[in-house]
Amino acid sequence: MVSLDTHMSKMNQRRLIFAKLPLLISAILIVIFIIFNLSAKAPFQLSSGVQYYPSTKQFSLLIGILTRADNYDRRHFLRLIYGIQSSPLAQIDIKFVFCNLTKPEQRVLISLEILRFNDIIILNCPENMNSGKTYTYFSSLPSILSQPYDYVMKADDDVFLQLSPLASSLHPLPRSDMYYGFVVPCQSMNPFKEYMSGMGYILSWDLVEWIAKSVIPKNDTFGPEDKLVGRWLNSSHKARNRFSNKPAMYDYPRTNGRCSHELIPDTIAVHRLKRWDQWLAVVRYFNLTNKLVPSKLYHGLD
Ligand SMILES: *[C@@H]1O[C@H](CO)[C@@H](O)[C@H](O)[C@H]1NC(C)=O
Ligand SMILES: *[C@@H]1O[C@H](CO)[C@@H](O)[C@H](O)[C@H]1NC(C)=O
Ligand SMILES: *[C@@H]1O[C@H](CO)[C@@H](O)[C@H](O)[C@H]1NC(C)=O
Ligand SMILES: *[C@@H]1O[C@H](CO)[C@@H](O)[C@H](O)[C@H]1NC(C)=O
Repeated sequence: MVSLDTHMSKMNQRRLIFAKLPLLISAILIVIFIIFNLSAKAPFQLSSGVQYYPSTKQFSLLIGILTRADNYDRRHFLRLIYGIQSSPLAQIDIKFVFCNLTKPEQRVLISLEILRFNDIIILNCPENMNSGKTYTYFSSLPSILSQPYDYVMKADDDVFLQLSPLASSLHPLPRSDMYYGFVVPCQSMNPFKEYMSGMGYILSWDLVEWIAKSVIPKNDTFGPEDKLVGRWLNSSHKARNRFSNKPAMYDYPRTNGRCSHELIPDTIAVHRLKRWDQWLAVVRYFNLTNKLVPSKLYHGLD
């Protein structure tokens, strides 16, 4: 039997513990807060080398838009197009990628762009389209980036991407041995035959690392770049996970036979935007300016 006295003293002990509890909890919270702040400074990495973002982002994607140093106007426009988009699911970084600069004014103007936007990668190659630029792009990334991404995309500068649907489509897919895009030929629905169109295709980070290390890509860099990537992966039995996203990826209406179709709401990529009237049609169709709030500052802008 428990006496009243011992019962009372136990009660007192408990009271004492409860009285100290707020102090203990605050101490624990402060420690957690400090640890979180230290790790939140940079996305932290697990031993697998894949990064985890402390925010709500589930994965990361680097989009390299292969272009030429002299395409200033196109870069300006694409910065607007992508600067107003984002995805709640993915950390998406956009970089413009070109080969060695060749003119004195490029060194000045592109230095200014880098200072302002920090979104440029200059590779060590002579400017070209089908003589190894894509190989140099992928194979350089592991050594020039300070951290890996889950996925890396190669995109053309005449393609429009909707970032949020793109991220949503990647989210449920495997993070490794992955090859994603628009499979060629146009009418094909089998991603395991042929290759993904150069308009925009995505490789998981392990495949990027493989390209950097393997002699197979290194020895096979001349020819249509998109076809080469398919051939490298094929001949090495890589990319066992493949995903061709049709009809969400396509060529602009009436520009390329069966690869083209009308604009559709659930678009991920529209390719072959060569003229301004085509870009304007895309901006209008996808309501890119809808969030603009009327103001006395913008006379007549509605
Ligand atoms: C690119 O430029 C660098 C620095 O000027 C030079 O060392 C290198 O040889 C060039 N590479 C090519 C492939 O032209
Ligand atoms: C890859 O292999 C498949 C099956 O053997 C073949 O149909 C396809 O044409 C190949 N693709 C390339 C780009 O070589
Ligand atoms: C590179 O390709 C050439 C021509 O296709 C071939 O003869 C050579 O054996 C290849 N080298 C390697 C290391 O694969
Ligand atoms: C753009 O906005 C219009 C009017 O609100 C709407 O009917 C249309 O579905 C929107 N288009 C897309 C692609 O979301």
